[in-house]
Amino acid sequence: MAKELCVLAYSGGLDTSVAIRWIAENYDVDVIAVAVDVGEEKDYEGIRKKGEQVGAVEAIVVDAVDEFYDDHILPALAANLMYEGKYPAFTALARPLLAKHQVRIAQEKGATYVAHGCTGKGNDQVRFETTYQALAPELKCIAPAREWGMSREEAIDYAEKHDIPVPVGKDSPYSTDTNLWGRSIECGLIEDPSVEAPEDAWEWTVSPLEAPEQPTYVKIAFERGAPMALDGKQMPGPQLVSTLNQIGGANGVGRVNMMENRLVGIKSRELYETPAATILLAAHKDLESLVLDRETMHFKPYLEMRYAELVYYGLWFTPLREAIDAFMAETQKTVTGEVTVKLYKGTAEPVARTSPYSLYDFGLASYGEADSFDASKAEGFIDIWALPARVTNAVRRKMEQ
Ligand code: ARG
Repeated sequence: MAKELCVLAYSGGLDTSVAIRWIAENYDVDVIAVAVDVGEEKDYEGIRKKGEQVGAVEAIVVDAVDEFYDDHILPALAANLMYEGKYPAFTALARPLLAKHQVRIAQEKGATYVAHGCTGKGNDQVRFETTYQALAPELKCIAPAREWGMSREEAIDYAEKHDIPVPVGKDSPYSTDTNLWGRSIECGLIEDPSVEAPEDAWEWTVSPLEAPEQPTYVKIAFERGAPMALDGKQMPGPQLVSTLNQIGGANGVGRVNMMENRLVGIKSRELYETPAATILLAAHKDLESLVLDRETMHFKPYLEMRYAELVYYGLWFTPLREAIDAFMAETQKTVTGEVTVKLYKGTAEPVARTSPYSLYDFGLASYGEADSFDASKAEGFIDIWALPARVTNAVRRKMEQ
C-alpha cells in the first residue's frame, strides 16, 4: 500500500535535510521536498538533487521570484512596510507565499501532511501554520524542529549517521534567511545585544568606513508606486531590486541592527541587510511627499503600521490585509515620477524629485518674484484658526487670578 504523503518546505540546509529523513522515519510517510525560489541566488537544481539524495521521494523547485515581487514586494512598498520602524519584514513577506505553494502541491499530490523546519521560538512557525490553516485546514502539520528536541550537535550526528551531507568548511556561526528583499542574520555572537555586531555577519554590505569617498547617485522612476527604471533604464522589478542591492551594498547602505518584539513574546536582537529596500522605501516615501495631499499623507502611516503588524504576525491571508492593500493601491494612483537618491557611506538620502502629479506650486511656495499667494487672506484665516486658543486661554487667565 502506498504511504501517506508529507510536503515539506525545503531549503537545502542541514535542518530541513535532516527533517526529510526524520519525518519519513517518525511518521512512516513519503516526503516531497519543495524549495521555493524567492530571489535567494542559490543553486536550486543542486538543492533539488540533494532533496532526493537525502530521502525525498520527489523534490520540486518552484520559481516564485516574479510572484514575490508583484504580489508581496510591491504592496509592501506601497505601504512603506517597516516593522517597528526598522525591519522591512522580508522574511515575513515571503513565508505565506512559500506556504501557499506547499499547500497547492500538497493538494495536487493528495498529501495528508505539510511540514516546515521552523523552531518553536520564532515567528516563522506561526506564519507557515497560519497560512496552512487559512488555505487548507484539512492538512495536518508536522514541525520536526519543534518536535525532535535535537541540539545542533545532535542534528549533525543524526545527519552523519544517515549519510546526509553536512556543510563543512565555511560553516556559518549564524542563522540566516535570504530573499530578494533582504538578508537576516541571527544567533551566535549576535545574541548579546550589549556587544556591537561582528563585521563578519555582514555579507551584502561593506562597512560604511570602507565605502567610496564619493557619493553614488541613483535615479529611480516610479509608476503608480512601482519602480520601473533605474538611471533611465527600464528593467524588470526583480532585476531592479537586485541591482540596487549591489549598488547600495557597495555604499554600505541598508545595515539594520535592532531589538525586535517577536509575535511569540520574545525580544530578540536582529541584524538585517536590506540595501534595495532601504533605497526604494526612502525614494518611494519621498515621491509620496511630493504628490500626496496633506490629509492622505498624515492618515496613511496609521494603516501602514497596522499593515506591518499584520504581515509580521503572519496574517497575510486575511480580509483586513486585503482591505488595507486596496486603500494603499488607491493612494498610489499619482505616485509616478522620478527620485534621485544619494548613497554615501551607509546613508541613502533622496535629494531631488519630479512628478507630473507634483502638488508643489512654485508660485505659491516661492518667496521670490514669482509669488502668487495672496498673503492678505492669511490674516482672516489666522483670526478664525486662533479663535479657540484665544477663548480658552482668556478663560484660564481669568480663573488663575
Ligand atoms: N526576526 C525576523 C522575522 O521574524 C527574521 C526571521 C528569520 N528567520 C529565519 N528562519 N532565520 O521575520
